Formats: sequence, C-alpha cells, structure tokens
Amino acid sequence: MERADTLIVGARVIDGTGAPAVERDVAVRDGRIVAIAEPGGLSHWTADHTFDARGKVLAPGFIDVHTHDDTHVIRSPQMMPKITQGVTTVIVGNCGISASPVTLRSDPPDPMNLLGDASAFRYPTFAAYVDAVNDARPTVNVGALIGHTALRNNHMDRLDRAATADEIAGMRAQLEEALDHGALGLSSGLAYGSAFNAPPEEVEALAEPLGKAGALYTTHMRTEFDAILDAMNEAYGVGRHARVPVVISHLKCAGPSNWGRSVEVLKSLETVRDGQPVGCDCYPYNRSSSTLDLKQVTGDIDITITWSEPHPEMAGKLIREVADEWKVSQQDAAKRLQPAGAVYHNMSEDDVRRILSHPATMVGSDGLPNDPLPHPRLWGAFPRVLGHYARDTALITLEEAVRKMTSLSARRFGLSERGEVREGFHADLVVFDPERVRDAATFAKPQQAAEGIDAVWVNGVLTYREQAVTGARAGRFVARGAASKVDAAGAF
Ligand code: ZN
Ligand code: CU
Repeated sequence: MERADTLIVGARVIDGTGAPAVERDVAVRDGRIVAIAEPGGLSHWTADHTFDARGKVLAPGFIDVHTHDDTHVIRSPQMMPKITQGVTTVIVGNCGISASPVTLRSDPPDPMNLLGDASAFRYPTFAAYVDAVNDARPTVNVGALIGHTALRNNHMDRLDRAATADEIAGMRAQLEEALDHGALGLSSGLAYGSAFNAPPEEVEALAEPLGKAGALYTTHMRTEFDAILDAMNEAYGVGRHARVPVVISHLKCAGPSNWGRSVEVLKSLETVRDGQPVGCDCYPYNRSSSTLDLKQVTGDIDITITWSEPHPEMAGKLIREVADEWKVSQQDAAKRLQPAGAVYHNMSEDDVRRILSHPATMVGSDGLPNDPLPHPRLWGAFPRVLGHYARDTALITLEEAVRKMTSLSARRFGLSERGEVREGFHADLVVFDPERVRDAATFAKPQQAAEGIDAVWVNGVLTYREQAVTGARAGRFVARGAASKVDAAGAF
C-alpha cells in the first residue's frame, strides 16, 4: 500500500503545457504531486481524502502574473478575489510600484497610492516584506517584483526628473538586496508622471544586476497610445542591455486612434523574439483601469470614476456625467475629482482577442484590490478566459487557455516546480467544471466570485471548496528559481 494525503480521481487532467486533456488519477503528499496514473491506476493507494473529479478538469493552480496585491496578501490573507478564481500564486510589484523596499516621506506618490495609504508601506527592506508575507500566511503563494518608481521614491527628492548617478547607485543597492532575497525582477511604470522623466539610460543602469541574478524586467511601457512601437523598442533595449527577458505588461492598443494596431504590435514582438526573450501579459477585457490620469481625459472615450477622495459619491459615474452635473469641462471635472480612480473604455475587442490569443501572451489580472468599485478583472480575469474566451467564443482551446495561466507563467518568471500537473511538482491545483466555469463579476457588480471553480489546493492543502474557503492558508513567499526555457510555442 502506498499512502497519499489526497487522491483526486477521474479528472480530465489539463497539465498546463498545452498538451490535450487526458483522464488521470493524481496523488498528493506533503505538498507535492507524487503520482499520476491512468484511471484506476492508484487503486493500491490509501489517502486521508479522496476527491471525486469525474466530469471535471484538473489543472495546475493559476498564476496571476500581474497583480497589485502587495499589501492585500498581508491585510486580507484569505485573498478571496483570487482563490475563488483558482489562482494559487500571485506576482506582486508590477507597474513600477511595490510595497517594498519603501520608505515614505509623506503620502505615497501616484500611482503607489493604488497599494494603500501611507500606513500600508511598512517594509523598508525586501527582507521585511518577505517576513510579513510569511507571517500573514495568505491562501496563495506570493512572488514579488521590485518597482522602479518605489526605488525612485526612496532616493529622490522629486520624481519629475531623471535620477543622478548617485541616486541610481542607491536604487541599485536596494534592488540587489531584494534579488538576494528572491525577488523575481524589476518592474517599471514609465507612463506615470512619477517615472515618465526617467530616461531609458536610468532604467538600463538600474537593470544591470538582473542579468547575473537570472531575474527579469517587466514594464508598463512609456505609452500604449500612438507611439507604442517606440515604447516597445525601449523595453527591448533594456532587455538587451541587461541581458534579461522582458515582459510587456498588460499589452494593449489604447485610444481609438490606435485601434486595430495589434497586428503590427504583435509583429514587432514576433520579430524581436527571434533574437531575445520577450513576452507579454494581458487581461481579458476591453477597458483598462488605474488612477485618474488627466492626459487621458480627452473626451474621445468614456471614463468611469471608481473612487474619488474629495467626491466619493461620484463613484460609478462617467466623467461626462459629472461634468454635465457640475456644468464644467471634463478636464475641470477630472481635476476636481482627483485623487481618483478610473475605468477607461479605451480598447477595441478585436485587439483584445488578438493579443490574448497570441502564444506569447500570459494572463494577468491587473486587479486593484483597494478600489471600492474595482474593475471586474480583479475577481473575474481567469474564469473569463476559460469560460467566455475559450469555451463560449472558441478563441483558444481550453488547453491553451490553461497554458497561458500556468506553465508559460511559471517558466517565464522562474517559479520552479510550479505551473504543471507533473510528478514532483508542488501541488498547486484547481478542479473546475468546464461546462459551468465563468466570471460573475461585472462593471456594475464587480465583487462577485466566479462560478464553476470546484476546488483549489495550495501546496497540497485544500483551500477552497463548494464556493467557500476552508480556512486553511498554505501559501508562502516564493523566491526566484531557475527560469527555464519555454518551449517553441511559448517562445522564451
Ligand atoms: Zn500598469
Ligand atoms: Cu498593473
């Protein structure tokens, strides 16, 4: 007799690599997948728990490569928006903003305020953040990037200029400390005022330690509007300079004048991929969300206010409606609403579909957990890809959808022994109903758990079942492992 903690029997296993689903029984012990066999092949095993998954899909737990959950994993360790989607690992610190290492002089600069107010920033070193994550014991695993803007905040008196050589050296020392403690890489948010005046040379110099560490560079590019190709070239340049892989965050063609350009944008990615490792992530929606940016209040798209410090009562309204009510221009309304958060109706569905379906694209939610009226991507991104895009509109196969959320992500970010249903790998697993899985979160009612996610295990521990958390919290900080080459289809 062999012993397991859990046997999951009769599932259609989608292993995360893109291979077709096959019926398998799976044994889990001490947090790992210890055996995978044809149906009935584990009949000589005993287990404390047996989970009947007939008719369901068993897949690797989803990896949310693009999150702003830095402080959420500590303050709300149940991580309801993510565990309910089958997400078992989140990567924090995207878009140039990370909770650590950070020392604030006053209020957090935009868009660091997306992570919380000043009281949320308590981690002057990355090591302190790692300890806080492990002490909080979130339901999900946590990998972390270090934000360029966060580092700028630590070393510069003002953020509307380039950093000096001394300031870059200070930033680099902090980045190196973080890499020594397992940070996955560096992120930037060059479109934001707090980093826009950082020239490419500043980012390149800062990125230099990444190569030796085997880390990577992710970027919310300088622009996603008309000059997007230049911004992509800038990102590739950082990768070449530091000899590291590049991930373009939430790739999109923003603004009506840009709609349809995903063809040339993806062509750029494909051309450069022959010579250096580059990829991207995206979320499966045609509206974006962030803090309210006056530059984007041009009158040619609808913008919904999600929060406003001086005018919380305007949440849920379009800027156009607020401007009408106040009898002012949209620019003036936007100025009065600030600081504020917004949803921008700024993409075309064709572009979203083209980018999402590209083999180099991973799924990342970019969810904003501190937003009182969050973009539904926070609670819905992963089931929306499985339900709406894979099953209902047949944009991609279910196997390909799962690959974009699991093995591709783990390999790119260096999360070793995760992202596949494979013997010896960590038992981060999800069972879902392929007929029923769907996102329930909408723009009007965004805080709703997905349907059809039947069970989620994190490090072998059953964490979510029958639409409820079990109370177990088995997530942990995950340090950078050896990033591995992605297969031909995934192209790293
Ligand atoms: Zn971003
Ligand atoms: Cu982001």
